[in-house]
Amino acid sequence: MNDRILKVEGDINLTEIRKEWIAGLQPETIEQLNVDASWFLHQALSTPCMEVLTECEGSYIITDSGRKILDFHGNNLHQVGYRNKHVIGAVTEMLNKLPFSPRRYTNTPAIDLAQKLCSKIQGLNRILFAPGGSEANSMALKLSRIVTGRHKVVSMWGSFHGGGLDTISVGGEAAFRKNTGPLMPGVEHVPQPVTYRQLWDNDPEQDVYIAYIRHVFENEGDVGAFIAETIRNTDVQIPVSGFWKKVRALCDEFNVTLILDEIPIALGRTGMFFAFEHYGIVPDIVTIGKGLGGGVFPMAAILTNEKYNVVAEHSIGHFTHEKSPVGSAAGLAVLKVIEEENLLNRAQELGKIMQARLLEMKERYQMIGDVRGIGLLWGIDLVIDRGTKERAVTEAEKVMYRCLERGLSFKVSQGNVINLSPALIISESELEHALNILDEAFHELIH
Ligand SMILES: Cc1ncc(COP(=O)(O)O)c(C=O)c1O
Repeated sequence: MNDRILKVEGDINLTEIRKEWIAGLQPETIEQLNVDASWFLHQALSTPCMEVLTECEGSYIITDSGRKILDFHGNNLHQVGYRNKHVIGAVTEMLNKLPFSPRRYTNTPAIDLAQKLCSKIQGLNRILFAPGGSEANSMALKLSRIVTGRHKVVSMWGSFHGGGLDTISVGGEAAFRKNTGPLMPGVEHVPQPVTYRQLWDNDPEQDVYIAYIRHVFENEGDVGAFIAETIRNTDVQIPVSGFWKKVRALCDEFNVTLILDEIPIALGRTGMFFAFEHYGIVPDIVTIGKGLGGGVFPMAAILTNEKYNVVAEHSIGHFTHEKSPVGSAAGLAVLKVIEEENLLNRAQELGKIMQARLLEMKERYQMIGDVRGIGLLWGIDLVIDRGTKERAVTEAEKVMYRCLERGLSFKVSQGNVINLSPALIISESELEHALNILDEAFHELIH
């Protein structure tokens, strides 16, 4: 598979720079990495790995050689920071009391978490937990089938909804879809709405994308669900302000379930609890995950409305850890921290600092083609030439490794988009420090 396809979701381990990076590590680390790579299946986005971690704390990961790295990647689960004392306290207490709740029984933490999440937004008052985001999206798709009686799904090219066979089918990335044989039938893809490198000119309100969705709904005739990331986390694609209202109206017109995947971005990353709140709509189903488990427990969920409470005779989840007391305790602690430490507001305020610094860098570096972001999610699109917008893939990778050397980690998606997602509890001075590291790397490696 070509490199560019492999690099869409994140930077990969197959490049020359990665080899050089490994060669520069201490012998003990290299030995550990080799043992790791001798057991795990190799995958371009994980094994062979790049370092060995021994600790994490707040905004940092710490390696076996004692290097402290500001983590602006964090698989997007570190909203409240790593090893958050409230999360660890709640989880420890629950581990010592009720570590597991077998099927057919419930428990107070699960009930409390359900109630708290269902009280966030009017109209999303039914919930199911799942052990991961991919499974949550699977449940959403199955639920929509049962409610609408239709199996067809419209989704977006370039999206990611998880690694399951059904979720790679609705996902739109060749790196996951290629060479896997027949995918789930009945899936049609539409283009992802972007504001940079648009597929067509003169579409400031992204109305052509809307017309395209209408075209598919009309011609397909019996679409059941539309699934998309409200704001795409990976290469930071933020639809224009009126976009989701128009999609909501189309879904209502064609009686299509609107499923919004907010697995990496809900719980405050964008400055709102749910990203769809920025757009003044409510989906039929939203899927959340990652940070819900506080960076400790695999925890995801679907939230939906009363109309979708129709699976009493089915089992669309049926997961071993469906109502985990430990995961729920973690989730409750996360919600408390978000509220008590005012993290939504914090993401908005720190986001303004990031925006100002990154836009100022864009003035100085011609190779920064685009800066886009919201709250504490920012993307820097590096280009060879601002006119052609050719992706600066080699440069982006060099910048990433230089920053890693100096103590800042982030992922690069699409080969050239630097994705910055710090913990929401990051201090202003840590944020400034990270941006200084990035600025220095730009100064040395791009123009
Ligand atoms: C938008 C989106 N959806 C779904 C998933 C899948 O979540 P999980 O890895 O918990 O299965 C991810 C994970 O990165 C994601 O970013």
